[in-house]
Amino acid sequence: MLALSALSVVLGSAQAEEKVLNIYSARHYQTDEALYAGFTQRTGIKVNRIEGKEEELLERIKNEGSNSPADVLITVDASRLAQAHELGLFAPVRSPELEARIPAHLRTDDWFAFSTRARVIVYAKDAVNADDVRNYADLANLKLKGQVCTRSGSHPYNLSLMASIIANQGEAQAEAWAKGVVANFARAPKGGDTDQIKAVAAGECGVTISNTYYLARLMRSDKADDQAVVSKIGIVWPDQAAKGTHINVSGGGMLKHAPHKEASVKFLEYLASDDAQRYFADGNNEWPVVAGLKIANPALDKLGSFKADTLPVGSLAMYRAKAQMIFDRAGYR
Ligand SMILES: [Fe+2]
Repeated sequence: MLALSALSVVLGSAQAEEKVLNIYSARHYQTDEALYAGFTQRTGIKVNRIEGKEEELLERIKNEGSNSPADVLITVDASRLAQAHELGLFAPVRSPELEARIPAHLRTDDWFAFSTRARVIVYAKDAVNADDVRNYADLANLKLKGQVCTRSGSHPYNLSLMASIIANQGEAQAEAWAKGVVANFARAPKGGDTDQIKAVAAGECGVTISNTYYLARLMRSDKADDQAVVSKIGIVWPDQAAKGTHINVSGGGMLKHAPHKEASVKFLEYLASDDAQRYFADGNNEWPVVAGLKIANPALDKLGSFKADTLPVGSLAMYRAKAQMIFDRAGYR
């Protein structure tokens, strides 16, 4: 028994010297392939990637415990990253490079945002006046009765938006807002963000909220149907006179039991490099977290610039459970 465990220690350290990195990824974007290849090219470290749904990956990392081969977890949405943090799956990472390149509100002690997406208001140009939907608060205005389409309140994108409203305005106002939005539903929540945008274009409802990369994807599409959708909708950056538009992130962190710790930190640093940051922008229509980086994405150019809420991503995490409770109470399901 002793010999066996000694052997596994030896094997363990031999493995640690291997030029390999095991990534568990819940990002589902095809363009990420190029992102990982870029890391191998730069460092000679081979990337093994296991893709899965967020919950499955978290469950798997938990169950594997100290035997987990996973080095890095990559996923989208602050509330999901927060969940991994709360489960104690991440290891703290100190990297002067990451601290220098990623703004403080877009990182925590153990996970980092590598790209941002904004949650914007999308309205039917022929049915809704842009001035009536300048702020998230307007979605709860009686004026929009029967006009609001939305995806589920349990979805992390909406939970993170709600978390930001709680953080900025307090629970009571957040709950009043949720109730007002529910009272304005055109139909029960269903589908993803793109379904909502299409429903607005089809006249099923007048207004919705969506992540920007779904809009950029439609804008860049060469399908006539998608272009027809784009021609019918208007986009508003919410809350420009207040805290700014809610942004969410994709990000990742090194796992507590990562067998390849050095490679893990190198990989996180790579994700903040100019090249990787451009992949996020060009491949998935997200904004880099590194300031001042020149990107070439016609749809993002067209969307233009806006004032983003600089609420720390850690705060979004803090209010995640509360956000779900408020949505449940309001009947925003
Ligand atoms: Fe998404």
